Amino acid sequence: MSNQIPLSAPDITQREIDAVVDVLRTPTLTCGPVLAELEKVCARMAGRRNGIAVSSGTAALHCIAMAAGLGPGDEVITTPMSFVASTNCILYTGARPVFVDINAQTLNLDPARLEAAISPKTRAIVVVEAFGHPGGIEEIEQIAQRHELLLIEDSCQSLGAKVHGRPLGSFGRASCFSFYPNKQVTAGEGGMIVTDDDRFDAVCRMLRNHGRDGNAWLAHQRLGYNYRMSELNAALALAQLSRFDEIVAKRRQAAHTYFELLIDNRYLILPTIDGDTTMSWYVFGVRLNDLFEPGDRDEVIRLLRCDGIGCSNYFPPIHLQPYIVEQIGTRQGDLPVCERIAERTLVLPFFTQITQGQIQRVCESLDKAIEKVLMGPSAGRAQAL
Ligand SMILES: Cc1ncc(COP(=O)(O)O)c(C=O)c1O
Repeated sequence: MSNQIPLSAPDITQREIDAVVDVLRTPTLTCGPVLAELEKVCARMAGRRNGIAVSSGTAALHCIAMAAGLGPGDEVITTPMSFVASTNCILYTGARPVFVDINAQTLNLDPARLEAAISPKTRAIVVVEAFGHPGGIEEIEQIAQRHELLLIEDSCQSLGAKVHGRPLGSFGRASCFSFYPNKQVTAGEGGMIVTDDDRFDAVCRMLRNHGRDGNAWLAHQRLGYNYRMSELNAALALAQLSRFDEIVAKRRQAAHTYFELLIDNRYLILPTIDGDTTMSWYVFGVRLNDLFEPGDRDEVIRLLRCDGIGCSNYFPPIHLQPYIVEQIGTRQGDLPVCERIAERTLVLPFFTQITQGQIQRVCESLDKAIEKVLMGPSAGRAQAL
């Protein structure tokens, strides 16, 4: 057996395979009953009235941003610590993203900094639960309500998570999930919009299906897209969801094992999870403490990869991505908390079927990599540590 441990791996059982094959035996490969059932299940999980399945989390965000009527001249507050799609959906509409720094514990938009960024042009907030962590979402919902701003919740990493018993995906006007293969639940590719707003529901349904309104196949009410999800993808996601409790239990166990093995490592900062939070565990991210130099994290990643351990630098700050710098004019130093944390954070192998033995090997390899970095040429701070 290979000694490689991937960063992520889908968890596909015979149930998923059977579900997809069953669809192949029917005449309906798209826009069918499996999709409708998936929409119902996801809406119920998020405590929402409507679910609209689409081809990706990015498509979901795009539909929501358009249904919100965002456009040129609007400002939308968002986080720099995310996958780029949460900002791209703002840019797609011609609106301008306004980045607000993050809270160092939750890694999410810092509610304490948010109000200072609100201007007369602010129309909306795109909030992201980074690494599936809900921190700050309740305060941000209140700020949005107080200022009459539209709240869009990007829950692409947090399907099934809760705060104070309330599901993520239930905040704001509309929320969305991603079913990309590294997520808790995959459809191969896919996304889901959930909302209580029937107008949003109707607009998003039109947008995903070439602007069609209802079943009139060649009548197009507005400019739309092909953001449909096929019945095959829907069947895969639905079969995964039928095992959701088992999937989340395994991911919790994996996170628990990482905590147990890393808690005494004085060089690492582990995720902070409050008692009121129920995680569904998207990834397991750790941070080198502030005594490490920028660049040390990249060396740790390099050493882990050389040892066959999949890991990554989630997330490089969005405001420093070249096209954002060019378009928005953001610069290094604009969001110091995010920048400091992002350059020291790495995510470790994390997937539903990861074994205790694999986690042990990852942690041993991480210990060795950190020791090696401490002994390295730029390790003047070794004594300080
Ligand atoms: C926070 C966030 N938003 C949006 C997306 C986009 O989802 P998709 O890859 O399904 O388009 C992702 C995907 O990783 C994500 O993590």
